[in-house]
Amino acid sequence: MRNILVTNALPYANGPIHMGHLLGYIQADIWVRAMRAMGHDVTYVCADDAHGTAIMLRAEANGISPEAQIANVQKEHMRDFDGFGVHFDHYDSTNSDANKARSQEIYIKNREAGNIAVRPVTQLFDPEKGMFLSDRFIKGTCPKCKAEDQYGDSCEVCGTTYNATELLNPKSTLSGAAPVEKSSDHYFFKLPNFGQYLQKWTRDEGRLPVSIANKLDEWFEAGLADWDISRDAPYFGFEIPDAPNKYFYVWVDAPIGYMSSFENYIKTKRPELCFEDYWKKDSKNEVYHFIGKDIVYFHALFWPAMLEGANYRTPTGLFVNGFLTVNGQKMSKSRGTFIKAETYLEHLNPEYLRYYFASKLSDKVEDSDLNLDDFVQKVNSDLVGKVVNIASRCAKFINTKFDNKLSATCAEPELVQSFIDAGTSIAAQYEAREFSAAIREIMALADKANQYIDEKKPWALAKIEGEEQQVHDVCSVGINLFRQLAVYLAPVLPTLAQQVQDFLQLASFDFASRETILVGHEIALFQPLMQRVDPKAVAAMVDASKDSLAAPAEAPKAEKKKEKKSDKKAEPKVGEAEIIGIEDFMKVDLRVAEVLEAAHVEGSDKLLQLTLNVGETEPRNVFSGIREFYQPEDLKGKLVVMVANLAPRKMRFGISNGMVLAAGNGDGVWVISPESGAKPGDKVS
Ligand code: 2FM
Ligand code: ZN
Repeated sequence: MRNILVTNALPYANGPIHMGHLLGYIQADIWVRAMRAMGHDVTYVCADDAHGTAIMLRAEANGISPEAQIANVQKEHMRDFDGFGVHFDHYDSTNSDANKARSQEIYIKNREAGNIAVRPVTQLFDPEKGMFLSDRFIKGTCPKCKAEDQYGDSCEVCGTTYNATELLNPKSTLSGAAPVEKSSDHYFFKLPNFGQYLQKWTRDEGRLPVSIANKLDEWFEAGLADWDISRDAPYFGFEIPDAPNKYFYVWVDAPIGYMSSFENYIKTKRPELCFEDYWKKDSKNEVYHFIGKDIVYFHALFWPAMLEGANYRTPTGLFVNGFLTVNGQKMSKSRGTFIKAETYLEHLNPEYLRYYFASKLSDKVEDSDLNLDDFVQKVNSDLVGKVVNIASRCAKFINTKFDNKLSATCAEPELVQSFIDAGTSIAAQYEAREFSAAIREIMALADKANQYIDEKKPWALAKIEGEEQQVHDVCSVGINLFRQLAVYLAPVLPTLAQQVQDFLQLASFDFASRETILVGHEIALFQPLMQRVDPKAVAAMVDASKDSLAAPAEAPKAEKKKEKKSDKKAEPKVGEAEIIGIEDFMKVDLRVAEVLEAAHVEGSDKLLQLTLNVGETEPRNVFSGIREFYQPEDLKGKLVVMVANLAPRKMRFGISNGMVLAAGNGDGVWVISPESGAKPGDKVS
């Protein structure tokens, strides 16, 4: 038995879980279940990645504290993982006391080992907002081609990369103010101290997929640079010890969340485990991180270096998955293929998706496609048509004619044994994360089982007098074969497996349990196990996902080296926004509204509270982020245009029931008004 700790990348606490996330979580969960079925002690932990500017600003936009923001999102994330059978032993937050203590300890150990440097850095600073601006919060004119409205790191028109300080006529996207250059001390992790160590580490057997190790070589050749690990206040994160008003950059304490989540797991749920046994240098216990290919840089360079510098063990291996496309393309809100976990669960059985992903995944760092037609076809043909069909064809005879008991002897011991023997290679494929190969092998067995039943035709034998024993024997063999398949599929389909285990009245479904053939064994009454995927449900899910206007921005993704780029907010230029159909546009109910009252909102420097007459019996309450640009008296009595069918949004100050339209360009904001003559409640189109 091996002792293994498994983690998934920690999702940011500012956005919902979607299909793209689920690929990696389902992959890890299947692996964990398979390794447990093989008898290993596997601990599986995760947490929300709770810190950083994006989360701080998201909370501000939602009118709530960062703590409330991360608590709300964590609940949603846990609900979604649970819905998909992704069963963590413990789910934490990086904003925990344990993570703070561990982050500070790792930092201090690295500082004592000479791995931290401090030097001043000049950056653009928003004098109105009182904060330093990362590149995504600065826009200006490209110093090379003079294209306007370019972000602070590179020009999307001519492709030039530059420092934000080189932009012409820069503006803060947060306040519209012209940023000023300001210097402050930054703390750096001296990554070059670990150059040789990492070059060897990344080539250690089993540490990384070879394709990734090759990629890393390019980075080693380009030379490693010091890593800026500090951010100035205001920042939602942990303060750096002995550095007032300096905070750890979110990517410092995020991976440390793997350790602290495990630590909290031990403390709260499994005190017999020992933290040191897993994390001390040279520990024989194994640690694996399942991550997406976009965050390899952090996990294969900074993370092992920080651990090595603090005298901890490094991960045994990184399991890296590619991206997910849907119907061959990037997930898109306008096409309805940006499917949230929550939306999927409203329409479809999660085990369909687990199966489909398993049938696609291998140990390669390849992108996977969720083709929705193929999804319907594969699940219906494999799971319903092949696997479940075996049980439904055999069980009814055992239930109705043989008092729920299987035959006293096995009529086809060699056939059943061949299914048992196949478990050795299926287990090896699971362990090697060659899930698609495992599924292929399991489906080949399912074909064989169906072939056996087709040849023996128990339904025809049942009509012939004197053939009862044959019917009993054939159906008992069928049930035995089905049991083998269910054991093999259990890591992928835990709910189905539990139903089968109950139906077969078996105490265990571990891989080793399959070795005893079931003879003279009593089973329960067969219940339908899985319905066919209804293509209409898939269409309804896609339809429900076509919610481009209301959908929140995606969480920022870190990128190799130019992690700054990651911070960009998707704010398309004219003509570059996603194309939507007229049917999407028609969903938006635009109405003329009269501002009856306008008032400042106490505690908010952004919002005005508007009371609007939209021609309904009751006026509407709407919070609008225009305080910086309008005085309440400027708005009172004015006709405006509002989105009248926006879902009510709960804010710290009350519920906002709609949205007032305004134009904006970074310099100012102008509320849109109809010409005089329009009346409250008139439709705008
Ligand atoms: O890329 C992301 O979504 C990050 N939140 C992953 C963090 S993984 C770990 F390091 F915490
Ligand atoms: Zn340019």
